[in-house]
Formats: sequence, structure tokens, C-alpha cells
Amino acid sequence: MKILVIHGPNLNLLGQREINVYGDQSLKEINNTLKELAKELGIELSIKQSNHEGEIVDFIQDAKDCHGILINPAAYTHTSVAIRDSIAAVDLPTVEVHLSNIYKREEFRKQSLIAPAALGQISGFGLQSYVLGLRALHTMLNAKK
Ligand code: DQA
Repeated sequence: MKILVIHGPNLNLLGQREINVYGDQSLKEINNTLKELAKELGIELSIKQSNHEGEIVDFIQDAKDCHGILINPAAYTHTSVAIRDSIAAVDLPTVEVHLSNIYKREEFRKQSLIAPAALGQISGFGLQSYVLGLRALHTMLNAKK
């Protein structure tokens, strides 16, 4: 099973950025945790990060050889019709994750344009959002077999 993990804009700054909101773990630490879990579950991971909307669309379009996508679209969650459309276009099971609880924050963060194209969303559990998201995707993909 192959899964593409996409981290959106500013997530490269995790560990330095708004630690009170996003925690003190770096993106590298999050990725290492995901890699360990993937090994345990027998998943092949491809991990990408971009600060650019079009590049994220390209990652999704190029994911044809993957079975599913785990994505934290970051700020593009709330603005990007292009990322939502690319998820709908490739039609791969996609789990949306957020470190913070986007429903507990500013009004503009309460809408996700991505969620209607996703299998589900996990929000508010910090690093565990990614762990739960990967486990959920793995379980759902196995159930489909
Ligand atoms: C985020 C939430 C977004 O609103 C924000 O723009 C981010 C990170 C999260 O993981 O909590 O950059 O996706």
C-alpha cells in the first residue's frame, strides 16, 4: 500500500511557528513518527511539503500510483478550490488533518473547502492528528480490498 503525505504552506516552520497553537515538534519529527508507523503497518510513504498551491495540485495529480492521500492543506484548507478539485479529480481516498482544532479558532478557519472532497477530517490532536489520519486511511483502504 502506497500513501502520499502532503504538508501545505508554513508547515516547514513547525517547531518555531506559533508553538502554543501547533506544538513544538518539527516537521522532521512528525515525518519520522509517520515513517515509523508506516513501517509497522506495511505502508510505503511518499512525503512532500510545499508553500505553493499549484505545486500541491501537481503532487496530487502525480499521485496516480498511490492508494490514498493524507494531507494537511494548512492555510489552503480555507481558500483553495484548486486543491479540492484536484482531490476530486484523482478520486483517491483522502484524509484531511489539522494539528489545531480549526473549529475552535478564528471564523475564517471554520470552513474547509477540502473536506467535501475528503473521506474524512481529523482536527485538533496535534501530532496525533497525523497518526490517527494515517491509521484511518490504512484501515479504510484495507476494508476496500
Ligand atoms: C492548520 C490550520 C490552518 O488553519 C492553518 O492555516 C495552518 C495549520 C493546522 O494544522 O492546524 O497552517 O492546517
